[in-house]
Amino acid sequence: MAPVAADLAGRLTSAGQAHLLAHAESLAGGARETFVAQLASVDWARAAAAFASKAPPLPPDLRPPEALTWRRRCNEPGLAARLARDGDALLAAGRVATLLLAGGQGTRLGYPGPKGTFVLGPDPDRSLYAILLERVAATARRAGRPVPVVVLVSGDTEEATRAHFEERAFFGLPRDAVWFVRQGELPALDDAGRALLAAPGRLALAPDGHGGLVEALVRSGVLDRLAERGVDVLTTFQVDNALGRPLDPVFLGWLVDRHAVAAGKAVRKKAPDEKVGVFGRGLDGRVRIVEYSELPADGAPDLVLGSIAVHAFSVPWLRRLVATEGFTLPWHRARKKVACLGADGVVATPSAPNAWKLEQFLFDLLPMAPRTAVVEVDRAREFAPVKNAEGEDSPATARALVAAEVARWHREAGRPVPDPVPSLRPLVADGPDDLR
Ligand code: UTP
Repeated sequence: MAPVAADLAGRLTSAGQAHLLAHAESLAGGARETFVAQLASVDWARAAAAFASKAPPLPPDLRPPEALTWRRRCNEPGLAARLARDGDALLAAGRVATLLLAGGQGTRLGYPGPKGTFVLGPDPDRSLYAILLERVAATARRAGRPVPVVVLVSGDTEEATRAHFEERAFFGLPRDAVWFVRQGELPALDDAGRALLAAPGRLALAPDGHGGLVEALVRSGVLDRLAERGVDVLTTFQVDNALGRPLDPVFLGWLVDRHAVAAGKAVRKKAPDEKVGVFGRGLDGRVRIVEYSELPADGAPDLVLGSIAVHAFSVPWLRRLVATEGFTLPWHRARKKVACLGADGVVATPSAPNAWKLEQFLFDLLPMAPRTAVVEVDRAREFAPVKNAEGEDSPATARALVAAEVARWHREAGRPVPDPVPSLRPLVADGPDDLR
């Protein structure tokens, strides 16, 4: 049997992964070949650099950033109407695309499939993908032209996601306006930085975080294709917020109004210990989002604007940024539960986090932006997270929030609220105006 090629063996050894060579030697025939091919597909130098790097320290004296607050939006209807008109004009001119982050493994939900295929209900065709993407299709219909949709997938989610899109006729989106982009993967590591095995002859790989979208957009050429198509603004949203609205015209209008190159939507935090990242502005004037796990012990009570992970970025700015010498997003280590092969040769699912995943965060782009626009939105209308199987931020809480929104549309349209409240079907009605 051929030995592992010398250059691969060298790369593994210098990345501190010599145990994988020993494992390869223990495998027979085809299993060994498959494993060696998987080893060769990993960027070991990137993994080692990511494990060794430390996330940059928090700048001192973070203050609340300037934001278009909900109160201001309500008190100045003229401003909100003007921003909405500007946003609608961008959409009508075909200058906006959106990107759905759908590469995560969704371990907390524990659903066996991509989170987007999870049926939130109440009707059995109401998957998270259906609810979110039909809303994009409804916005495009109002704008009178397609909105390009990029779907960020990973090794774990790509196949089932593509199949779900096919089954559902792309949720009313034109096929040629939907681009799947596969993000990178890195091995999950133990405390010593050694790659874990998911099974004999198979690495435990994990997607490289939602920030991995930047590299994936560049590598796939999709960032350039968006620019060639005349797209100036790329908004992003997450598959696990059933009420995510990435094409909200006021949000787009505020980005333009502020001459900003990046933007984020915020809600007022319910309590200092609520598990959402918060917006802060450093002494350098730059806006950033601090992960809840990285906040100081008191939860930084002044920083009340929590992120709901809906962003917008100027495409020309993003292209200039990624072309800058040495550009990279910082790496973070996330402590997660990863089922892996133990020394006893048995694959065990741990009851507590046991491994490090190496991740880049999309919102680390914000402090690189010279100007960032923050828009506060109504939590009840735009934030229905699906993170956990039960309890808070679970399918049950998200289903109730979606039903409450649909009920509100009926009331605002002056109609009786049906009992039970019907499913959210954006292609039938995407707000009180459609119901009227
Ligand atoms: P989370 O950070 O909640 O991670 O993702 P997750 O992997 O989905 O869930 P857990 O932590 O394992 O339970 C937030 C959003 O970012 C996307 C997810 O699909 C979700 O929309 N994401 C996350 C990616 O697209 N790629 C990644 O590598 C990580």
